[in-house]
Amino acid sequence: MNFELSEEQLAVRDAARDFAQNVLKEGVIARDNEQRFPKEEIKQLGELGFMGMMVDPKYGGGGMDTISYVLAMEEISKVDASVSVCMSVNNSLVCWGLETFGNEEQKQKYLVPLASGEKIGAFCLSEPEAGSDATSQRTTAIDKGDHYLLNGTKNWITNGSTASTYIVIAQTDAEKGHKGINAFIIERGMEGFEVGAKEDKLGIRGSDTHTLLFTDVKVPKENRIGEDGFGFKFAMKTLSGGRIGIAAQALGIAAGGMDLAVAYSKERKAFGKEIHKHQAIAFKIADMATAVETARLMVHKAAWEKDNGLNYDQSGAMAKLYASSVAMEQTVEAVQIHGGYGFVKEYHVERLMRDAKITQIYEGTSEIQKIVISRGVLGA
Ligand code: CAA
Repeated sequence: MNFELSEEQLAVRDAARDFAQNVLKEGVIARDNEQRFPKEEIKQLGELGFMGMMVDPKYGGGGMDTISYVLAMEEISKVDASVSVCMSVNNSLVCWGLETFGNEEQKQKYLVPLASGEKIGAFCLSEPEAGSDATSQRTTAIDKGDHYLLNGTKNWITNGSTASTYIVIAQTDAEKGHKGINAFIIERGMEGFEVGAKEDKLGIRGSDTHTLLFTDVKVPKENRIGEDGFGFKFAMKTLSGGRIGIAAQALGIAAGGMDLAVAYSKERKAFGKEIHKHQAIAFKIADMATAVETARLMVHKAAWEKDNGLNYDQSGAMAKLYASSVAMEQTVEAVQIHGGYGFVKEYHVERLMRDAKITQIYEGTSEIQKIVISRGVLGA
């Protein structure tokens, strides 16, 4: 066993940390207040090679491993989870899905600009009536010979109005259930494709979350990903990796809250001494550090399994389940340590607490992770 990070991995972590602390931090409160998408910051993230980190350099990616990816996700998420969700969806769901299951033509046309960050991608599975129950797709894509006719609505889509390339999951044959589902590449600007309402959210308010509407969109046959009927498995396999990214995001939110709480506890005095010298606070910090470190070990193990060609469905689900609950619990504690200051925006911890909640919901709720984990354990 080796817990040591390589020089390359440490360099990626440091570059992400510098970017988060020196570029992202300054405007994060304003972006959250104004629900402003971090357009310029995402452009810079692309220039750093962080929008297609794991993609093969022959497609314009960074050729890095999943450990490097989770290290970068943690550092970015310590400061701005609205930036890291955009990065996670582009890397884990869109680029990975296209690189692993797309054909050469699709990779050249769509993956190359996504991997460099020149374009942004979105992953469209959830619907008004199909969130956790992902096989109940109402969006249909009817085979019309040389094209499919796509109709339906997708909900809560990250990068909804800023993406150029959308992977859309749709039912092509209802009688076949999940075996009659396909994944399609949809381009911004295709006739009949409309970006709907923007969500006004509790957290990750800088991220761009929209409803998408498809009315008789003609999708060329060559835009289907994989064999006919592969769409549900495509979504499940892609989400397995996505969950490692979100677990790393949750870890970063928790670690960011901890860093702020530790620093504050050394500055703030009460009853004649810095508050960390009171056992009530010191023990909270001990619990925080233990939970954050456990989450980090789980995230790194899942990433390591992915890098080593092992099955990571279970470890990714466990890492997301655990890290997201640590993010929620420990950011509440970080606010508590800050007392009244924790309740005001200037001190950052209330935003981390609001941002933490979504990590228990998207890319599979905590309850869905328990389904995946329990089925794996029970062999059911
Ligand atoms: N890899 C490959 N295949 C898989 C798989 C995986 N990880 N998981 C399931 N499958 C296959 C099964 O083997 C089965 O195929 P066969 O019939 O050929 O054996 C098929 O998929 C159906 O599987 P299930 O019977 O297990 O399906 P289910 O209806 O019980 O659902 C579920 C399983 C795990 C609950 C799934 O529905 C699920 O993950 N739901 C949550 C969806 C989700 O995560 N949504 C997030 C939206 S995306 C998002 O949030 C992105 C964003 O913008 C941030």
